[in-house]
Amino acid sequence: MSPIATRMLVVLTGALVALALSGCEKAMQDMYNQPKYKPLAASPFWSDGRSSRPEVAGTVARSGGASAGTSSGRLGQLPLPMAEAPVYPVDDNGNVKANLAPDSPKPLTATNPLPIDRQTLDRGRERFDIYCSPCHSIAGDGDGMVPRRGFPHPPSYHTPRLRNAPDAHFYNVITQGYGMMYSYADRVAPNDRWAIVAYIRALQLSQDAGLEDVPPEHRADLAR
Ligand code: HEC
Repeated sequence: MSPIATRMLVVLTGALVALALSGCEKAMQDMYNQPKYKPLAASPFWSDGRSSRPEVAGTVARSGGASAGTSSGRLGQLPLPMAEAPVYPVDDNGNVKANLAPDSPKPLTATNPLPIDRQTLDRGRERFDIYCSPCHSIAGDGDGMVPRRGFPHPPSYHTPRLRNAPDAHFYNVITQGYGMMYSYADRVAPNDRWAIVAYIRALQLSQDAGLEDVPPEHRADLAR
C-alpha cells in the first residue's frame, strides 16, 4: 500500500472510531423513540384528559428542578426528607446529649406509636434481618457479615448505653444515619422503622432477662 493510502486509512479509521464513541447516549435513540406522552400532554385514555396522573398519596419526590427530566433524573435528585430533629448522641447512661442552645431543634422524644404485639415484632424482625443484620448481626451484637469482612464494627445493642437509650434514638439513627452508618430513610418506611425499634427492644430483652421476667409458674423449672 502506498504511504498516501496508509495515511488515508489511518485518518478514516480514526474518524469512524471518534464517530462511534461520540455521544453514545444521544446517538442510540432507541429508548427515546418509543410511544410515550410528553409532560402535561392531553390523553383521551383517562376521563379527566390528563396523561400526567395525580400522585398516589404519600409519594416522595426523588428529583426536582430543571434537570429532573434527564434520562435518569439523578441530576435533579432532591435531599431525602429527614426527621424534624438531628440525631443527638446518647451518653453512657442512655441519656440524649442534646445541644440545648435556645434556638437548636429539640430532640425527637416520640415513643413507639405501634402496638407492641406479635404482628409488629414479626414485621420488625423481618425488616431487621433484611436491612440491619448484615452489619449488626441477627443477634444485634454488631458482628454481622459486612464488618467481618472489613467494614467498621457497629456497637452492640446489648450495652447499658443502648439498652437505656430512648426509642426515638433508634428511630432517628435509621432515618438519618449515624457516623459511619448511612440513612435507611429511602428503604425503610416510618412504620417499619418503629417495627424495627420494637424488635430491637425484644432482642435487647433476650440478652438481659432476669428471674423476675420469667412467669412465676416457670421459675421453679429454672431452679431445677
Ligand atoms: C452497612 C452496615 C450497617 C447497616 C446495614 C446498619 N448499620 Fe447501624 N451502624 C453501623 C455502624 C458502622 C455503626 C456505628 C456508627 C458510628 O458510630 O460511627 C452503626 C450504629 C448504629 C446504632 C448505634 C448508634 C449509637 O448511638 O451508637 C444503631 C442504633 C443502629 N446502627 C441501628 C441500625 C438499624 C436499626 C439498622 C437497620 C435499619 C442499621 N443500623 C443498619 C453500620 C450499619
